[in-house]
Amino acid sequence: MDKFIVEGGVKLKGAVELSGSKNAALPILAATLLTDGRSVIKNVPPLRDVYTMLRIMRMLGIKVDMEDGVVVVNPHGYKNSVAPYKLVSTMRASICVLGPLLAKLKHAEVSMPGGCVIGPRPIDLHIKGLRSIGADIKIEHGYIVAEAEQLKGSRVYLGGNFGSSVLATANLMMAATLAKGKTVIESAACEPEVHDLANFLIKMGAKIKGHGTHMIEIEGVKSLKGAEYSIINDRIEAGTFMIAAAVTGGDIMIKHARIEHVGAVVDKLQSAGVKVTSAKDGIRVRKTRSLRPVDVTTLPYPGFPTDMQAQMMALMSITKGISIITEKVYPERFMHVSELARMGAAIALEGPSAIVKGVARLSGAPVMASDLRASAALVLAALVSRGKTEISRIYHLDRGYHNLEEKLEKLGAKIKREKEE
Ligand code: UD1
Repeated sequence: MDKFIVEGGVKLKGAVELSGSKNAALPILAATLLTDGRSVIKNVPPLRDVYTMLRIMRMLGIKVDMEDGVVVVNPHGYKNSVAPYKLVSTMRASICVLGPLLAKLKHAEVSMPGGCVIGPRPIDLHIKGLRSIGADIKIEHGYIVAEAEQLKGSRVYLGGNFGSSVLATANLMMAATLAKGKTVIESAACEPEVHDLANFLIKMGAKIKGHGTHMIEIEGVKSLKGAEYSIINDRIEAGTFMIAAAVTGGDIMIKHARIEHVGAVVDKLQSAGVKVTSAKDGIRVRKTRSLRPVDVTTLPYPGFPTDMQAQMMALMSITKGISIITEKVYPERFMHVSELARMGAAIALEGPSAIVKGVARLSGAPVMASDLRASAALVLAALVSRGKTEISRIYHLDRGYHNLEEKLEKLGAKIKREKEE
């Protein structure tokens, strides 16, 4: 296992290149299972979660190769429709093979993903969506077993208690491309990753309208073909670097970041007094004066992303005054609070809200990463802490950030990766 050693106190300056979006790459790779044709997917980030998806695809009998961010998929004649526990248990997003397998092979068995440290993660919306278009679904021996001789389009309301679901929308949208007739998804997720998936499906020959809004219409077609596609850049990585600039008092140009993908983060940073400017080649973020606290509530897109909550909390930890951060998507997603407290942050939890009392400075300490975005928050806090911080278990971070330490080093950070004894 690796750990990061970070020496805090450097104002980060310079330009950073973003990687492709992990959360767009995973369902787009799954979508290639809908056809026999060869697909070429570009700008795929070389991350642990992506490799897990490629392993699942190989296990299904599909030929996949990845080189320099380009994945070539050749699914011709694949027949295996079982995604086993061994792999699914390491990555919840594996559930997005359910819809494509069902639509293409008329049968799918995907291990139940289970909960994770950020809280319970039900799959009722995935099941509701697929049942609404005619799938027969049972839970047997820890597996979701889905069957349908011919899926049939229908109208379905897919909102849940915590808003829309990204991957449930993805699963239904993918399966509906090969259903007979029209499917209408109401309260669909409109995250940019769902939009990107729809664009890829359209390139494969699918008929989709309304993607990027809460109402998606899919007119089923007989078959899809393979396609070539380049994935959007990672908006959560962009947001993380935006906060890196703000928290260290630096000045970073985030190249090719799209302002419309990070609107809620930009708004909160601007309210806090951070200078954010959008240029042709990206977004520039700098801190020119002392910051003010802001209250943040996470919501589905275009609201403030839950995947940026921990990073924002790191920033508010050193912002004078009190801010309230409320988690509406995963109300238990606060594993980072106790680790930030080890660095001197003053944060109290009150149900789904964290009350953050900004301190003048944090101090380096040994801390442990608990999940992907919590790890990013610890790195951000470490960058501004006095002295040395050792962050262990950074394999969590490697699931979602490509070369984070190299990118930060280029901006001036003192960060290195070491093997844990
Ligand atoms: C995706 C992202 C993840 C992000 C999350 C929310 C990927 C690979 N992962 O995960 O990084 O944190 O969106 O933006 O894209 N829910 C239900 N029933 C369901 C499904 C979800 O109640 O059947 C709830 C969840 O518990 C959560 C909320 O809906 O409270 C949103 O979850 P969802 O959008 O489904 O998350 P994922 O798609 O798994």
